Amino acid sequence: MAVLITGIGELTTNDPELGKVSEAALVLDGGTVAWAGPAGRAPAADEREDVGGRAVLPGWVDSHTHLVFAGDRTAEFEARMAGKPYSAGGIAVTVEATRAAPDHLLAENLRRHVDEAARQGTTCLETKTGYGLTVADEARSAKLAGAVADEVTYLGAHLVPPGADAESYVDLVCGEMLDAVAPHVRWADVFCENGAFDEAQSARVLAAAADRGLGLRVHGNQLGEGPGVRLAVEQSAASVDHCTYLSDADVVALASSETVATLLPACDLSTRQPLAPARRLLDAGATVALASNANPGSSYTTSMAFCVATAVLQMRMTVDEAVWAATAGGARALRREDVGVLRPGARADVHVLDAPSTTHLAYRPGVPLTYAVWRKGERMR
Ligand code: NIG
Repeated sequence: MAVLITGIGELTTNDPELGKVSEAALVLDGGTVAWAGPAGRAPAADEREDVGGRAVLPGWVDSHTHLVFAGDRTAEFEARMAGKPYSAGGIAVTVEATRAAPDHLLAENLRRHVDEAARQGTTCLETKTGYGLTVADEARSAKLAGAVADEVTYLGAHLVPPGADAESYVDLVCGEMLDAVAPHVRWADVFCENGAFDEAQSARVLAAAADRGLGLRVHGNQLGEGPGVRLAVEQSAASVDHCTYLSDADVVALASSETVATLLPACDLSTRQPLAPARRLLDAGATVALASNANPGSSYTTSMAFCVATAVLQMRMTVDEAVWAATAGGARALRREDVGVLRPGARADVHVLDAPSTTHLAYRPGVPLTYAVWRKGERMR
């Protein structure tokens, strides 16, 4: 059943040839985009939906979340707002709650957050393990994530569990735990940071994952400058995420690589860190993605619109750069060509704003602007 979406005031396609089209239309058929272009040239379809001059863009591609968790860290957030610095140690609180939670509770919590994201226009979402940190808990997290997320990442190397010896734990992450999780994930990640895993340990994790055929991602340069970005680029990781503290050499390395710099502005704000240097990266020629980093500790939001508004208002990205980063940029960070773009053959993931242009995402920050969403051609709201 083909659906013609017409009356599009402004269509952002992210396709270099189609570009941005005004007075546009889209045809969705069988879960993919069948046609995109000026309304006057649109082909006929079985059904027609007029969106009344509203702006249409690809659904958000949220390439960084941690949604397999249980428990609550409101008290940690309150302490932070009272002046206590963020430290990765809070992860252990969520690990304890996650290990104690039955499968159905973890699954419900995950589903609730994925649905919350979808209602706000997120149509492709990555999520991670990393709050289990035992072989059984990481494997169960990966399986639960695989049931609802588009992309699943193994983050056994999130934190050395309290009481464990770091080197022995890295052995486990690279051995038995990797064996148990690998069938359920496409990606592996490591938190390369003071207080988490050092450069040598991180390199070991990445090498073991690459040997198993997994794609690589790195959490790097979140709490200070360090080896994370350099390591990610050296290992041809698809993405290095956070990038809050970057040396000039890091920026140059990213700009001359295929590794995407995924910026997480909601996390920077919630942990009272400076905002990542988006302008330096973009001006140097690096590829930038924006993601929510939704998790109960450092960034408890699923709102990609909030990330886009912050990127424009406070990180000096243009609206077009921010919208691209939160759609096509996320797709690039996940090495996907079928999402984050509206062109024939792409997945029919469509986000209609209750606004005439994407500029309103920054012009009206905090206002829920999602009017309609199609995911794989199915109307979600
Ligand atoms: O991306 N940096 C490491 N991991 C998460 C934090 C998770 C937490 O605090 O629970 C992040 O910010």
